[in-house]
Amino acid sequence: MSVNTVHSPGSIAPANDGLISITVLGSTGTIGVNTLDVIGRHPQRYRVAALTAHHDVDRLYQQCVEHKPSYAVMNDAQSADELRQRVRGAELEIEVLAGPAGLEQVAGAPDTQCVMAAIVGAAGLLPTIAAARAGKRVLLANKEALVMAGRVFMRQVYESHAQLLPIDSEHNAVFQCLPKSSCTIGVPTGGLAAAGVERIVLTASGGPFRTMPLAALRDATPAQACAHPNWRMGRKISVDSATMMNKGLEVIEACWLFDCRPEQVSVVLHPQSVVHSMVTFVDGSVLAQMGHPDMRTPIAHALAWPTRIASGARPLDLVDVARLEFFALEPGRYPCLRMAYEALRAGGTATAVLNAANEVAVQSFLDERIRFTDIPRVIEHTLEHVASSEADSLEAILAADRTARAAAFEYVASILAPI
Ligand SMILES: NC(=O)c1ccc[n+]([C@@H]2O[C@H](COP(=O)([O-])OP(=O)(O)OC[C@H]3O[C@@H](n4cnc5c(N)ncnc54)[C@H](OP(=O)(O)O)[C@@H]3O)[C@@H](O)[C@H]2O)c1
Repeated sequence: MSVNTVHSPGSIAPANDGLISITVLGSTGTIGVNTLDVIGRHPQRYRVAALTAHHDVDRLYQQCVEHKPSYAVMNDAQSADELRQRVRGAELEIEVLAGPAGLEQVAGAPDTQCVMAAIVGAAGLLPTIAAARAGKRVLLANKEALVMAGRVFMRQVYESHAQLLPIDSEHNAVFQCLPKSSCTIGVPTGGLAAAGVERIVLTASGGPFRTMPLAALRDATPAQACAHPNWRMGRKISVDSATMMNKGLEVIEACWLFDCRPEQVSVVLHPQSVVHSMVTFVDGSVLAQMGHPDMRTPIAHALAWPTRIASGARPLDLVDVARLEFFALEPGRYPCLRMAYEALRAGGTATAVLNAANEVAVQSFLDERIRFTDIPRVIEHTLEHVASSEADSLEAILAADRTARAAAFEYVASILAPI
């Protein structure tokens, strides 16, 4: 399939009131909060159509008071009841919905033009697909959706004339560096090679354990794993950054977004997180996108694309930064990254299995049921025991996800090691 990142050049046309209406899936998370911060800076341009969360009633209620969406959704039914009462008590005109059906409803609602997909993990897949099916501009933070269901997801984007813009800082950087001709869906582009692109280079900070002796990783705690040196993020992606699975998920995401092969995507360590990623060209040119590590930059870029709006991020002064370092990855240090490449090459449902096993392993580590170094063991075991099959339908992907979770849970139970 040719490159699908953007369906057609051009901004979103505002609704009748002159505003662009936005739904934020996962508004109470790190990306959601940053998105509302950017939106709040441009009240003459954007309004909020719907906000969603899982359990966090307090934060969603506060966001409802501030942004006055038409809909609010709690995935958890009891939390939805609680939010409904508080919204009524405050006489806010907001309809509160519950559960996965509510998430899909607001993602595809006719009065929404743009959907920020920022639910973490596999729970984000169906609402994100619903947004694509309804032909929205989809701002994709939920990388797990593409990792699980790349082919189905990209086909949906293509068939529904949705616009897909990357929020991950690395993919947003690559998108900004790629020639426009290789980023337009509907035009036969011939892929990255035809545009003179040699390679995509994703940068990785190396996370909190970059220099920790390998033997000490066994005793790494959830609090240490979640203390990322440069980025403030949710707990799951923080652990993924510490294991480097996050970079593995991003390699898979890049292959789907930019229609390239695994060998065209490499990873380099860059502890400062100022160069967000690079594209190298056959003539020896290298284009990089830089900025402070602040997710408001890619969010503002994708919201306003192809124009630019202020994000609130402080300006980058390279004299201030003074030093930009780049290192090759130490062989053997990051088994999760190796397994992500292997699953990508294996194809089919292997990446859905990888994702499910990783989610189970990370949650088990956060719950202090297994050690940090057990995370790759759980994933490896699951990949070895769950066969990959064709990933040509959502049903096949969801079945693979269920089977992999069951296998991973069973393995976790067998290795339980109190810390
Ligand atoms: N944070 C970053 O800098 C960053 C950068 C690039 C990409 N991403 C990607 O963006 C996504 C969100 O990351 P994050 O760091 O913002 O995560 P987060 O802070 O943990 O927030 C997750 C959001 O998803 C909601 N949620 C969790 N489980 C849910 C479920 N089962 N059903 C419905 N909603 C659910 C949460 O609601 P509650 O608050 O109620 O639990 C919250 O709103 C992830 O896919 C991540 O990989 C994040």
